[in-house]
Amino acid sequence: MPVVARDISVAFGERRVLTDFTAEFVEGSMTALRAPSGFGKSTLLAVIAGHQKPDAGTVAFTAADGTEHAPQMSWIDQASPVFPHRTAAHNVAIGALSRGTTWEDALLIAEGHLERLGLAEVRDRLGKRLSGGERQRVAVARSMAAETPIILADEPTASLDAAARGLVIGALCAAADAGAIVIIATHDDIVAERADRIIRMDRLVSA
Ligand SMILES: Nc1ncnc2c1ncn2[C@@H]1O[C@H](COP(=O)(O)OP(=O)(O)OP(=O)(O)O)[C@@H](O)[C@H]1O
Ligand SMILES: [Mg+2]
Repeated sequence: MPVVARDISVAFGERRVLTDFTAEFVEGSMTALRAPSGFGKSTLLAVIAGHQKPDAGTVAFTAADGTEHAPQMSWIDQASPVFPHRTAAHNVAIGALSRGTTWEDALLIAEGHLERLGLAEVRDRLGKRLSGGERQRVAVARSMAAETPIILADEPTASLDAAARGLVIGALCAAADAGAIVIIATHDDIVAERADRIIRMDRLVSA
């Protein structure tokens, strides 16, 4: 089920943020959205997620049988929110629970993703005690545990050192290899290098 964004325009008052933006995002691929700060990367992700209504244009999700409905999506927020009074493991398990697993299975699934993201040591630490970089990886692990067909990630490596960044990129690439549509807003050259496609939003010229 590709995602097709067609002729998307968004303005906030006088400020035109997106103008006739068109792109198709296919399964099993990772796309990096690149542009300087303020060029509408987060806004585009919000439009695809349905959080932001565009002034014009459409986002279509068409299944192989021709039906159109929005599939499950996970959103990895720029601010990496976690539940402060839940452990890292429980924060990640929530992702698996969202697709109907039992609590026992959710904890096992969480364990695997925590390990892959270098978080095994903080599994029992409360969300409020995690560092910024740990919270960011917990948010990625939660999204991986949810196994949604679409993953929208807003600067998922912003607070990370090189090693942790490598783990996050690895997780997002693995999700794309498993068939997900992964769309990442990023300022990070190393993330962009690993993407199947880069969309440079600052070079899109409107007629
Ligand atoms: N709800 C809103 N109301 C008014 N202006 C907004 C709103 N949301 C975003 N903007 C403005 O729209 C522009 C694009 O914002 P957006 O967050 O999409 O940029 P971005 O490319 O993600 O930037 P960054 O790299 O800093 O995250 C910015 O100038 C921002 O201030
Ligand atoms: Mg942004």
